[in-house]
Amino acid sequence: MKYSIAVIPGDGIGPEVTTQAKKALDAVAETYGHVFLYKETQLGACAIEKTGDPLPAETIEICKNADAILFGAIGEIKYDNDPSLKIRPEQGLLRLRNELELFCNITPIKTYPKLIKNAPLKKEIIAEIDIAIYRELSAGIYFGDKEVSKDKKSAFDVCSYTVEEISRVTHLAFKAAQERNKKVTLVDKANVLETSRLWRKTVAKIGKKYKDVALDFMLVDNAAMQIVLHPKQFDVILSENLFGDIISDVACVIGGSIGILASSSIGEKNALFEPIHGSFPKAKGKDIVNPLASILSAAMLLEYLGLHDEADAIQRAVEKSLELGITTQDLKGKNQYAASTAKVGDFIADYIANQEDSNLNFTNIHMGQSTII
Ligand code: IPM
Ligand code: MN
Repeated sequence: MKYSIAVIPGDGIGPEVTTQAKKALDAVAETYGHVFLYKETQLGACAIEKTGDPLPAETIEICKNADAILFGAIGEIKYDNDPSLKIRPEQGLLRLRNELELFCNITPIKTYPKLIKNAPLKKEIIAEIDIAIYRELSAGIYFGDKEVSKDKKSAFDVCSYTVEEISRVTHLAFKAAQERNKKVTLVDKANVLETSRLWRKTVAKIGKKYKDVALDFMLVDNAAMQIVLHPKQFDVILSENLFGDIISDVACVIGGSIGILASSSIGEKNALFEPIHGSFPKAKGKDIVNPLASILSAAMLLEYLGLHDEADAIQRAVEKSLELGITTQDLKGKNQYAASTAKVGDFIADYIANQEDSNLNFTNIHMGQSTII
C-alpha cells in the first residue's frame, strides 16, 4: 500500500531522531512491500527563523493532506531563556493541535524488563507496569483567554471545558480500557475546580454505558504521588490538558527512561506521532541521544494505519536492541560502550529487514561495529 507521511523534524535533536524513525519505516516498507511518501515540513524555532511564523500555512496544508504525521521536537534555548519573546516555537505546536483538532493525546507507559535496573524507582514498584494515559489536548487552560494587565502586575489564564470536549476523549479512554484491563481513573481537582466537577459528572455519566469498565476518581496531587508509589493500580488514566501534561511526565519515570517513550495525538481526521522527550538543544548534532522514542512513535503511526504486523516488527527490533544492549548512553552504566543515535537506528532497520537472530554477529555488537552479518 501507498501512504503519505508528513514529517516534521523540528528543532534541537528532532531531526536526528526522526531520521532514525524514517530508517525503521523504510525497512518496514521494503520488507512488507509498502510505499511511504514522506513530505518534510517545518514547525517551531526553525520555522520562525525561516518564515517568521512557528506554524507556516504550508505545514498545516501538508499535515492535513497526509495519512499521518511524524513529529520530532520543538524548542530552542534562546526562547526558553527569554519569556518576553512574543513569537515562540511552542505556539506552532499548539496551533497545529488546534487546526487539526487533535483532541486526544495517548501516552503508553510500559516497563521493559531490560530497563528496570536503570530506573530510579525500586524494581518491586515498577515491574510489569502497563498504563495508558489519555490526555485531553485541544481545550482547557492551554486554549482559554489569557492576558497580562496593562501595568504588567497581574495576569490570567482561563480554563474552560464543554461537555462535548470532555465526552469525545472520554469515549476513547473507555474504549481503550475495554481492550485492556478494564479500568479508567479520572484525574482531576474536583475539590477546587468547577471544570473538574463538570469532568466528573460527564465522565460518570458516560461510564455507565461501559458496564465492563470500572471507573475511579483521583485528585491530581494524590495521583502524582500514587503514580510513583503504587503505579500498578492504574490501567487507563484520563485527564484534562494541563494535569495530563504533568502526569504524563511524572509517569515517564516508571518506564526507566524518557528516551523510549512515544505518544500519539489524534483527532477525527488526523494523527500525529512524537517522542515524549523535548528538543534537548544541548545535545543537538552530537549523535548521542536515544532514538527509540521516535522509532516507537513510528510504530504507533503504523498501528494507526492498521499495519499491525509492521508495528510489531518495529517493537520486536526495539526489544532486541534493549536485550543486546545496543543502546545510547542514557541506558548505559558508566564506562560501558554506548552506541550512537545513528548506530541504534541502523540496528533497528537491519533487524526489521532480517528478523532473524541467527543473522546477528554477536562479537561485533559490543564493539559498536556492524551487527548484521
Ligand atoms: C507536550 C509539551 C507541550 C505541552 C509544550 C511543548 C507546549 O510539553 O507535548 O506535552 O505542554 O503540551
Ligand atoms: Mn508535556
